[in-house]
Amino acid sequence: MNNVLEKQQYYTEKYRPQYHFSPEKNWMNDPNGMVFYEGEYHLFYQYHPHGTTWGPMHWGHAVSKDLVYWEHLPIGLAPDEHGMIFSGSAVVDWNDSSGLFEGKSGLVAIFTHADTYPETNRARQRQSIAYSKDHGRTWIKYAGNPVLQEEHITDFRDPKVFWHRETNRWVMVVASGQTIRMYTSINLISWEFASEFGESEGSHQGVWECPDLFELPVDKDPNQKKWVLFVSIGDNPNLQEGSRTQYFTGDFDGRTFLNDNSPETVLWIDHGRDNYAGVSWSDVPYEDGRRIYIGWMSNWRYANVTPTKEWRSAMTLPRVVELQSTEEGNRLVQKPIQEVQRLRTNHVSIQNKVIKPGTNLLNNMKSNTFEILAEFEITSETEFGFKVCKGENEETIIGYEVENQSVFVSRNHSGEGIFHQAFAGKHESKLVPENNKITLHIFVDQSSVEVFGNQGRVVITDLIFPSEENKAMELYVKEGDVTLHSLEFYSLKSTWR
Ligand code: FRU
Repeated sequence: MNNVLEKQQYYTEKYRPQYHFSPEKNWMNDPNGMVFYEGEYHLFYQYHPHGTTWGPMHWGHAVSKDLVYWEHLPIGLAPDEHGMIFSGSAVVDWNDSSGLFEGKSGLVAIFTHADTYPETNRARQRQSIAYSKDHGRTWIKYAGNPVLQEEHITDFRDPKVFWHRETNRWVMVVASGQTIRMYTSINLISWEFASEFGESEGSHQGVWECPDLFELPVDKDPNQKKWVLFVSIGDNPNLQEGSRTQYFTGDFDGRTFLNDNSPETVLWIDHGRDNYAGVSWSDVPYEDGRRIYIGWMSNWRYANVTPTKEWRSAMTLPRVVELQSTEEGNRLVQKPIQEVQRLRTNHVSIQNKVIKPGTNLLNNMKSNTFEILAEFEITSETEFGFKVCKGENEETIIGYEVENQSVFVSRNHSGEGIFHQAFAGKHESKLVPENNKITLHIFVDQSSVEVFGNQGRVVITDLIFPSEENKAMELYVKEGDVTLHSLEFYSLKSTWR
């Protein structure tokens, strides 16, 4: 009987996400070591197993067959004589280049060991490896760790490794102060410095962390490819945004990255506050062809004090990234992975309605775990959109301002917010209508909102902490009117029960 009860109550705590990944208990930050191997997607994550705030870092571990339903596994890597286990990546060593797998294939994790230089307080961050011969269930730390150190660099962390076919080498991108250093290797064990990128490029508002570098076709054309470099930027107390992630597009020859844009160009992957340290899955099968990433759905500004009790933090939905050519150059677009569609239930569909002030088409609907796809045609200079997780004194607004061509999420009155003065706010981005239309693809999951505007050209990811009972929704227009071409609403099932 207890078992049944426990099952029913599993993942039902206040604010607990129902279809996003969160640890069963305790603190989580960056996603780590994401790799697909023999039918399983692995997700490791920065984990403090003994508390709900940041502490001695381990790699937590979960696996999934579809990136939707996750199975929690025991801790993958724990601190040792070289220190804590900071962020990093994992790859399949298909041809046993490392010599660790007796000629077979296996998994190699490449991560940062973090401690301090002997008899000082100066941080020491060095790159190490571990390997697994049993599909990531157990890990052996390499006896010769660390495999890469640079004594003159203090912030030196978060190695992301991939195989570069053209040069027949492994490439490591690793954050180094406010640049990205690149190294190459033939065996994942000895690393040779290749180049350094970024000294005067992009945003330098904080320490650089968690890089990722991968190639994508432009406009889905396999003959036209470009490289994308993700760089997360740590919290700068002088700015309101907290921690966030920028990206560059350019060329990469196996050793050196060349930025396509002018050095002062800054491109953000997300215009909300809660998408950090995102990196992509390694070894997704060639036939699948997707580049899939996931981010940590929080912000260092307030991550340690968000109002959850049993656990702290969730990941974003896994997202597919693509490059699209625009007048300004190639730009990243993001879409939720299509596998999430299997959670859809309770479909409501509305077509061709002129929305006027003072009415609410969604009057009868209640949910805080759902998805909406909507297409609007702009017919007057107004503001329109959705109010979600709505109660007497609470609402989160996902809106569009026609005059400024701006899409926004306002969590000014979204619920609990006093835990940090930087939490409340309205987060916006330019979204230019196409043929006078805009689309909004929205995911709400108890304590988060993800908005994909115009097929993922703009994304806003924000945490919210509304009261449990506030599940009403409204489709609003401020003045004038707007035409709703189509609206599809789905409740989404829990993946945890
Ligand atoms: C990014 C980060 C990484 C580091 C890890 C420590 O959020 O600061 O640079 O490896 O978190 O938990």
